[in-house]
Amino acid sequence: MLPLQSNKALVLLVAVFISRAFCTAAGVGLPDASPLDTRGHATQATYGVSSVTRGDDGLGYAAQLDLSNDPLPQYGPSFQQLTWQVSPETPSRLRVQISPTGVKRWQVPDSIVPRPGAAAGLTASSLLYDVSLPEPGAPFNLQVTRRATGQTIFDTTGHQFIFKDQFIQLATNVPADADLYGLGEATLRTGLLLPRNGSIITLWARDVAAAVTDWNLYSAHPFYLQVNKDGTSHGVLLLNSNGMDVLLNQTSLTYRAIGGLVELYLFLGPTPEAVIRQYHELIGKTAMQPYWALGAHQARWGYQNLSVFEDVVSNYSAAGLPLENIFADIEYQGDNFRTMTFSEDRYPAAKMKAFAAKLHARGQHWVPIINPAVGAQPGFRAFDEGNRDDVWIKDTSGRPYVGQVWPGAAVYPDYLAAPNISSWLQRQLTTFYRQAPFDGMWLDMNEASNFCGGQVCEVDYSNATSVYYLKQKTPKDFDLTDFFKPRVTCWLSCKQPAVVSSLSSPPYKIHNGGFGFGRQAPLQSGVIHPTAVHADGSTEYDAHNLYGTTMAMRFHAAFTAITGKRPFILSRSSFPGAGRFAARWTGDNVARWDELFHSIAGVLNNNMWGIALAGADICGFYDMAPEHHVWSAEHALPEAEYEELCNRWTMAGAFYPFSRNHLAANHLTRAHEPYRWQSVAAAHRKAYGLRYQLLTYIYSSLFVAHSRGGTLARPLLFTDSSDAAARNATAQWLLGEALLVSPVITPNTTRITPHFTAGSWYNAWDLTRMDVTTGGPVALDVPLGEVAVHFRGGAVIPMQPYANVTRDVRYAPVTLIVTLPAQPSSGSQAAATAQGPLPPHVLDEPCAAALARHAGQLVSCGLLYSDGDSLQVSEDNTVQVWYTAATAPAGRSGSVRSTVKANAGPGSGKLRIESLIIAGVPTQAADAAPTASIAGQDVEARASYDAATGVVKIEGINLEAGQAFELNWSI
Ligand SMILES: *[C@@H]1O[C@H](CO)[C@@H](O)[C@H](O)[C@H]1NC(C)=O
Ligand SMILES: *[C@@H]1O[C@H](CO)[C@@H](O)[C@H](O)[C@H]1NC(C)=O
Ligand SMILES: *[C@@H]1O[C@H](CO)[C@@H](O)[C@H](O)[C@H]1NC(C)=O
Repeated sequence: MLPLQSNKALVLLVAVFISRAFCTAAGVGLPDASPLDTRGHATQATYGVSSVTRGDDGLGYAAQLDLSNDPLPQYGPSFQQLTWQVSPETPSRLRVQISPTGVKRWQVPDSIVPRPGAAAGLTASSLLYDVSLPEPGAPFNLQVTRRATGQTIFDTTGHQFIFKDQFIQLATNVPADADLYGLGEATLRTGLLLPRNGSIITLWARDVAAAVTDWNLYSAHPFYLQVNKDGTSHGVLLLNSNGMDVLLNQTSLTYRAIGGLVELYLFLGPTPEAVIRQYHELIGKTAMQPYWALGAHQARWGYQNLSVFEDVVSNYSAAGLPLENIFADIEYQGDNFRTMTFSEDRYPAAKMKAFAAKLHARGQHWVPIINPAVGAQPGFRAFDEGNRDDVWIKDTSGRPYVGQVWPGAAVYPDYLAAPNISSWLQRQLTTFYRQAPFDGMWLDMNEASNFCGGQVCEVDYSNATSVYYLKQKTPKDFDLTDFFKPRVTCWLSCKQPAVVSSLSSPPYKIHNGGFGFGRQAPLQSGVIHPTAVHADGSTEYDAHNLYGTTMAMRFHAAFTAITGKRPFILSRSSFPGAGRFAARWTGDNVARWDELFHSIAGVLNNNMWGIALAGADICGFYDMAPEHHVWSAEHALPEAEYEELCNRWTMAGAFYPFSRNHLAANHLTRAHEPYRWQSVAAAHRKAYGLRYQLLTYIYSSLFVAHSRGGTLARPLLFTDSSDAAARNATAQWLLGEALLVSPVITPNTTRITPHFTAGSWYNAWDLTRMDVTTGGPVALDVPLGEVAVHFRGGAVIPMQPYANVTRDVRYAPVTLIVTLPAQPSSGSQAAATAQGPLPPHVLDEPCAAALARHAGQLVSCGLLYSDGDSLQVSEDNTVQVWYTAATAPAGRSGSVRSTVKANAGPGSGKLRIESLIIAGVPTQAADAAPTASIAGQDVEARASYDAATGVVKIEGINLEAGQAFELNWSI
């Protein structure tokens, strides 16, 4: 157990071991011998079907359920009558809703997840699933199967379905040999794979350091991906924002939510990426980020003044390292951490404005941190205007809810429902932006964090200490130790209610992690009290998990309105749908090797959740051993190992979608900006050197996720879900369809054996080919200062020359890399099943068509996408060109063809294809001389062949990217 408290917390807290918390679980009122025992006896069905109405279109049904048996009375009485609706929405998506008849229940609002409803013209014969039809008189049972194979998708057989006001239990059987992914947010020792040994994943957004394993963290995502032994996959979302536990064991998965209703969506896949696309089709696809957001980022809590801040940027350029964006942490803020203001003595606005102009002129960016809580300081404009505009969340006395965060006593904007919230925010943000234009926003502490958590709190003006803290000016030298210590302990005077509220003390206790409480922390621990109320009458009890997402949504709109630019928003808390607005980092991690492993799961989970631009703090936010929370040389990694870890982590993190070196203040961690060590600087230069050459490839991959749904970073198993070992190869990931990263994640290691799924793979550093006939481990030598990165066979990858800022790469000449696949195309609908390795882009129409058209040939396919960061992307302002290469099975001749889907925007006319590389061409006679020509064009293409690497290079083509062409080559 790692007793780290919140972000930036200093206080020493009592360690409570998770094992102890589990031991006491029986004491919280679970009646069963095992806390996982959800099965009733067959005779103990809870609800029976009283009537069934079939849909007019022959699709779906509605049924009435009557209570027949009411178990677990200690959790309150069950509803007598429920309405159960089963609605097919698309061939691959089924919606199931169960709600008490005639009772209005809290439900995730449409503003968070707009409900699409059923697709027009849906027919029963098109459905990939079958649902058992209930019969009047029969007990409740939901059984959904895959029509093609009869496999179980969701099956409640043998489990008690329970629906009480504050306790809903829904369980499904899951085969022991299936693998589950995606629920969170939690840092699991198993990495990406969900443990199924009686584990409980709890969803209740908390400001708890990501380094704490098993506890609920910043976000809440009640979605899972199930991959069966044969590789077929489906997904399940319980769209419910209430606090919940999800219980996992070898035979079943059980949702236990403490409110709301059952709104269940099933996604049939059948491949993992297809499941994720179908999921994002519902919750909203990932935001298209500005191109620069793909560059290298730096942040640190504790750059105490502007001069230090400027030095960081200079140090990067002096070391010749790429730096795209620097984040300003809380130090820039005015006295008492007034939100959206500058400190007059540490970060004066006028100087910040001049610095911003300098950054912008060089193609660099800066982004300020913004916390939701607004200091309750009369005379502070944001506070006074918020009072006037009535935008705060209210407490049970009807007054603004007061909590305590960095500014001390603070109130919370009601981003969900206050009628004037948009105009209030836009006014604050406009004033702030005019002082020093920034390029995005970093939303922190938006779970929302609260160091008090009382029901009704206020400043005790009779207490001199409290008043002192309230008025304390931020010290000039920003002495963090003395300044922060008192701020993370509650010094407000909080009254607990005379009557214990069912909202703060629901009968079923979710396994909420909290320091001093183990996994039995009350709901209000560290957050806004659950009794607090939004303008629409909803309570924090119901809406808590949505706070971060509503904040990101409002800032996204305000930034767009003010600047007319595509927003870059980084949010710590998220719920399904957040990816439409925000990028994410995984929170406060630690400079330890196991944390490098955990970071990969964090990035991949966010991608499954629809948040493509995700990354972890490179080399750790904190720097300390697990059992300590304040940095000391004694407990941290030895200096040499710290340097080694930062080297390895930098090279891995260079391939996170969102790539940022970020760290805590200097009393909590040693510095680790890459320029601190020559070895790490060299590692940075090398890894980002490749990343920047691939920026357009990464951006094109992001565009696919944005336009079609699906992932940017994805688990290796997505290339072949039938490969059992790949399903647990979660120390690796793919960035886009074609780039596999296999980092070193252990000390003193220069030889690794990462997993490769069947197919051809190309060393990204020299394009040498490796054929893997059946998936398995491959030994690789990876000395310090190198990282294993491979291209997948069957891809076309745009690459450009390196530059230190993304602006200078964006429209630079392109070389297309064609990687030959191991196997000729079978021509069949490969994507329809999940058995065996899948070609890159098999779900994308131009590539699927090429695979079908060129059966028997070696097919490679990929996209080049370019835009000018327009707010909306369409065919009128983007370049979208698909490249398909068909190569004869012997690999000696082929053609590369472009299909232009769009040719507009700044990239049109500017982007040129300068050369083409065919990688993996079988060894030829040394004097073999390839030829190349472009159909119908008088272009002088020069072709050469390198027998050592098997690379055919075709130069001098200089085609406009948006121009359709067909190039033929042979050797
Ligand atoms: C898993 O949980 C179910 C439902 O609570 C229970 O019936 C079953 O015995 C458990 N299985 C194992 C292997 O623990
Ligand atoms: C005054 O506030 C301080 C800081 O929160 C607290 O430690 C102390 O107990 C309070 N004193 C009284 C008398 O309430
Ligand atoms: C998955 O991999 C991890 C790390 O390599 C290993 O510790 C764990 O036992 C594996 N789990 C399974 C189910 O194979």
